Amino acid sequence: LDNGLATTPPMGFNDWNAFGCNVSEQLIKQTADYFLSSGLKDAGYTYVNIDDCWMTHTRDAQGRLVPDPAKFPDGIKGTADYVHSKGLKLGIYEDAGTATCAGYPGSLGHETTDAQTFADWGVDYLKYDNCNNKSDGTRQDYVNRYTAMRDALLATGRPIVYSLCEWGVNNPWEWAGDVGNSWRTTGDISDNWASMLSIAKANMPLASAAGPGHWNDPDMLEVGNGGMTDTEYRTHFSLWSMMNSPLLIGTDLRKATQQTLDILSNRDVIALNQDTLGQQATVVSSAGGSYVLTKPLANGDRAVALFNSSDQAQHISTTATAAGLPKRGTYSVRDLWQHTDSESAGTLSATVPAHATVLLRVGADDQGGALDNPPMLDTGAT
Ligand code: GLA
Repeated sequence: LDNGLATTPPMGFNDWNAFGCNVSEQLIKQTADYFLSSGLKDAGYTYVNIDDCWMTHTRDAQGRLVPDPAKFPDGIKGTADYVHSKGLKLGIYEDAGTATCAGYPGSLGHETTDAQTFADWGVDYLKYDNCNNKSDGTRQDYVNRYTAMRDALLATGRPIVYSLCEWGVNNPWEWAGDVGNSWRTTGDISDNWASMLSIAKANMPLASAAGPGHWNDPDMLEVGNGGMTDTEYRTHFSLWSMMNSPLLIGTDLRKATQQTLDILSNRDVIALNQDTLGQQATVVSSAGGSYVLTKPLANGDRAVALFNSSDQAQHISTTATAAGLPKRGTYSVRDLWQHTDSESAGTLSATVPAHATVLLRVGADDQGGALDNPPMLDTGAT
């Protein structure tokens, strides 16, 4: 959607994966505080997003949505004011049906009122779900319901990122480029390897649909929630960064381990996701579950992921030219998890442990001269 927003994938937090319906003003404020104290804000995380269950079960006499006074004593406006005072932005959740997935009032038929309410409160991001949609299932119905809220948001004049959460029904990557800033491409993620892997595989082929202002969304991050190993969480974060997914933290940051924080704040990896070229990685090869993905970057470098989806260690190998770089005698290679720099004559390879990802940033050396150092061999994955 060409509304000037999300020119790189949105980064932030959403409470759903870790808290479900237990959202509150206190949680949102503490998360905002934590963004500042932990350095996550400096690393690029901006949106603090409220998911389902923030409201009461009935609209007010004017037909407006009402924040649950027990969960949000200062309302959404008061919460937004606090988040804004920290230099951050506030997101909220609604639904393109008669009720949200948890059964609270939906926006179908109330788009104008609800968009204006969100704008009045100072909301900066709307996740718009698809439960209870009364749909006939046709694509036109999906387009109509999601376009109605797009137009209502635009009419408010407030910049509000518009995130479509219609779970990949009706292939939103084929029609939502000018409807939303992102669209979910799959069903809900859960905090386990099989779920994360199947979602990643479903999202990988959709690269051509993504670009600045319009992103594929393979759902929010599970990093830190305990159902995967740190190796698997590094793979999760690597793939979401390579695929230009929104990076929405879905864990209780107040209890996050140093390892979780290190993964989420890896600036070399975030830089791939936030690269201004905005091109989602494509798959170079995937034989035997050994994936090579590559992504062009604005400065001419290429990001290369050597991702082992199998349950045994694998030697994964590609070349700089296969990854799209011009032919040169020497390439610079930075390992984005090891934080080490080396050179290569063209081979990019590593023995990658089960479920691990070696993530490289590769640059073509302009000199193309002889090697002073031996070419990079195995990078030694974690
Ligand atoms: C759907 C969405 C989830 C979450 C819940 C809330 O399942 O896909 O991301 O928002 O609804 O009820």
